[in-house]
Amino acid sequence: MRTTVEKETVIVIFGATGDLARNLLIPALYQLCHAHMLPENVRILLYARRPYTLEQYLTEVEQSLRAEGKKLDGWKQFTPRFVAYVQGGLDEKSLEQLNAWIKANAVFYLALPPGVFAHAAELLAQLGFHDETHGYRRLVIEKPFGYDIESARALDQQVRAHWREEQIFRIDHYLGKETVQNILVFRFANLLLEPLWNRNHVEHVQITAAETAGLEGRASYYDQAGALRDMVQNHLIQLFTLTAMEPPSSLVYDDLRTEKVKVLKSVRPIPRSAVNAFAVRAQYTAGVVKGERVPGYLEEEGIPHNSTTETYAAVKLYVDNWRWRGVPFYLRTGKRLSADRSEIAIQFKTPPLHLFRETPLDRLEPNWFIFEMKPSEAISLVAQAKKVGLELTPRTIVLRAAYREPHQEGFDAYTTLLLDVLEGNRQHFLRFDEVEWAWRVLDPILKAWQSDDSPLPTYPAGSEGPEEAVRILDSEHHRWRPLGG
Ligand code: BG6
Repeated sequence: MRTTVEKETVIVIFGATGDLARNLLIPALYQLCHAHMLPENVRILLYARRPYTLEQYLTEVEQSLRAEGKKLDGWKQFTPRFVAYVQGGLDEKSLEQLNAWIKANAVFYLALPPGVFAHAAELLAQLGFHDETHGYRRLVIEKPFGYDIESARALDQQVRAHWREEQIFRIDHYLGKETVQNILVFRFANLLLEPLWNRNHVEHVQITAAETAGLEGRASYYDQAGALRDMVQNHLIQLFTLTAMEPPSSLVYDDLRTEKVKVLKSVRPIPRSAVNAFAVRAQYTAGVVKGERVPGYLEEEGIPHNSTTETYAAVKLYVDNWRWRGVPFYLRTGKRLSADRSEIAIQFKTPPLHLFRETPLDRLEPNWFIFEMKPSEAISLVAQAKKVGLELTPRTIVLRAAYREPHQEGFDAYTTLLLDVLEGNRQHFLRFDEVEWAWRVLDPILKAWQSDDSPLPTYPAGSEGPEEAVRILDSEHHRWRPLGG
């Protein structure tokens, strides 16, 4: 049973008219309220520059969520939770308006462009909103935390000059996904896999987050970020550390984080002169996605015609420690690919003796263990079993356990994480050294790409990605898994 919050608490959503707030934060708060998990004394305040009345805003959001097919049976009970829509920018005078509403606990959610995180955090503190005399004050900072290693450090210093570490919640929504939290549970609550989870038995690991979606109205943000900053530095690196980490001594906030940081510290540094052997980037051109013609990246609204931002990134990492030395971890992500697929797939080595050489199956398929996150949520094991019939012939079978029954509804990542913020639980949030080390791992790639003026590889929208992606595979026996499954 999760605890309740006693004092009056206001969640201030900065950037309330943006996509994140409208499409993810409001639905997450609705889900909490509908499940009777949003404590009675929690109120929501919307803050943005655009002029709106509270009523207009809520009607518009409700309509657009309904149009997307969201069930909103409890919307009427939810709307009284909103206290105001405050129109204002990031300046003292506008922010002072918040004094009328904030008396005790407050959560400040910066659903803002990354470039203004530091300014917002500083200004809020200068106005005294970080002062915890009358209740807790928490600051939620979205990703990407920084633009590169230097800016991430600067941002951290600016924020920590005013806010204590306990007040800062660096969010990565992948850590709120049930299937991601299940990696920890499945790895460490079972004995079965642990003896195999190492360099003696694992051939390689593939971590994929492929999307059919394009920019979805976020051109100005995305063109600044690109796939490496938008997905790899945070979400994919988190999946990687959860897969590769040692068992923590407890699930307490710092124990878990320390193990994740150890993995990042063990990643073999990528030499800037050899970035091409470790990383591939590409941009989509026009094509057909799910039967519909879509424009290329350079034709998208709001994208400069000469942009060199990557919409696809694949990276190879080696972890030079006792458990993993020599095992490649391949990470890849991209927009406008042929399918929506997120998974962590572990390929095991083939058995040393091939007993079945004389059978039609001349090459034994290796075992795979897969944490499936999208399109379905499941754990599966690809194995060999006897083919039906008189011969002693193997065939490939898949042992698959769905993460939930069809009738079981789960909680969205943001729902879980918002509740964690209200409860002061930082277990699924990032400590700065994790963020910093993730940047350190990827920094040589970022720097090499910045100074590389050779033509950017491309891939047609709706495809499996650029042909160049095979370049980083270590062996002719390693193949990217098909996105269609
Ligand atoms: C966000 C990225 O953090 O994650 C988006 O900014 C991406 O570009 C999204 O589409 C993917 O999240 P999910 O939960 O749909 O896998």
